[in-house]
Amino acid sequence: MANKIYIFDTTLRDGEQAPGMHLNVKEKLEIAHQLQKLNVDIIEAGFPISSNSDFEAVKEISKLIRDKSIAALARANFKDIDSAGEALKGAANPVIHTFISSSDIHLKYQLNKSREEVLEIAAESVKRCRKYTDNIEFSAMDATRSDKEYLAKMYEIAIQNGATVLNVPDTVGYALPLEYSGLIKYLLDNVKGIENVIISVHCHNDLGLAVANSILAANMGAKQIECSVNGVGERAGNAAIEEIALIIDTRKKDLNFYTDLNIKEIARTSSLVSSLTGYLIAPNKAIVGKNAFSHEAGIHQDGMLKDRSTYEILKPEDIGLSSSKLILGKHSGRHAFVKRLVDSGYELNDNELEKAFERFKSLAEKKGVINDNDLKAIIQNEIRKEAEYFKLNYYHILSGTNLKSTSTVGIELKGKLFEAVHFGDGPVDASFKAIDQITKINAKLVDYNIEAVSEGKDAIGAVKVVINCNGVNVLGRGISTDIIEASIKAYINAMNKIVENKDF
Ligand code: KIV
Ligand code: ZN
Repeated sequence: MANKIYIFDTTLRDGEQAPGMHLNVKEKLEIAHQLQKLNVDIIEAGFPISSNSDFEAVKEISKLIRDKSIAALARANFKDIDSAGEALKGAANPVIHTFISSSDIHLKYQLNKSREEVLEIAAESVKRCRKYTDNIEFSAMDATRSDKEYLAKMYEIAIQNGATVLNVPDTVGYALPLEYSGLIKYLLDNVKGIENVIISVHCHNDLGLAVANSILAANMGAKQIECSVNGVGERAGNAAIEEIALIIDTRKKDLNFYTDLNIKEIARTSSLVSSLTGYLIAPNKAIVGKNAFSHEAGIHQDGMLKDRSTYEILKPEDIGLSSSKLILGKHSGRHAFVKRLVDSGYELNDNELEKAFERFKSLAEKKGVINDNDLKAIIQNEIRKEAEYFKLNYYHILSGTNLKSTSTVGIELKGKLFEAVHFGDGPVDASFKAIDQITKINAKLVDYNIEAVSEGKDAIGAVKVVINCNGVNVLGRGISTDIIEASIKAYINAMNKIVENKDF
């Protein structure tokens, strides 16, 4: 009989450790709700001791998502564990995930402790977790570069003190697939009591092997895979959930295991995470890249026209990509609009629906036809936006050849209009400087990206900016058929997040 593989999603924890990524509580909650629809088994919601917003996110997710296990990370010390326990208090099924390094390299250079001391800390920490929950995951950090006998001893001690899941992280993404699955076999054969716990695998992608390592480990008997949406995570990231899901589903006849993932939610989950994190997806990314289902070469197109099975092992519909051809335009009514939203999986409250319909109508007026990507951009960038403290009222640009660009911007703040005019290197720079003059927020632009949401001259431009305020990166998003307006909206959106976020 096929074995179930538990999917432990770490997008909101390891994923959020990716360079330059910062999600606020509302954004984390939105992703958590989508992970619920994707039907992951465990949501690792954050690292509560690391910041107020991580603590709040774990608390809120625990309160609102009742049918999933919610995990929180804690280093192997009482302060971290108590904070994780506290944040998880309201969870229906809380998991404390505690970790300490096991490799000699980490013991010597990072912990400056002996092997015996670290075993003692591991034991005490796992024991402490029991104050809060019976679901305890223990990770031996840098497991793949550790002495195997010492690693087995550490896991044995974790089991004796109450760990129910043993995680085997390939922290630096160094292991080769056969080596990694060999390590799982070694642990299965050498750790006393291992038959009573779940082995989890957590692979980083530094050498591009995270997914292969995870699949081979599951083949060897690991029962839980830790992964993240679009593979986001520290450095080169973690194993990508969409690849794990589709490998297991596509090759189910050859692999003796399955997941409970609802793969029809893959496309939507991937696009939500990309949009909220600002981490764009490479066009050739497996499963969710925009070319994953495109066929350009004549010989491939010929084959596809004769029979899809010639060059297609996955169908776009399998992962929830729409094949719908219904056109929405300026003559479309509310009924068709609501139906398309429902078909696309959006659940809006009355207020959001009202705003979305108004926005759709004004965009359709300018653009004519509104496609699924436009619709997605409206919902993700405008309707679910945080409260606007600063609100764009108008902008005027003077720009051209041999002319220093000048921007005049009017921003509403608590019902009053504030205006500023500034020169700059181009209209975007001039506008950002004018906005700085009004908001008086000391932030530095660290990234700017513009992307066409759909095809054609009238495509919506989606702008993402990352600004740094007191060492924390904040992402702002804006859309418009006018790219200067989209840029200004993105910049103001980031400023609003700075004002809203208690962590800065
Ligand atoms: O990669 C790693 O080792 C981790 C641990 C905290 C499990 O993320
Ligand atoms: Zn990790």
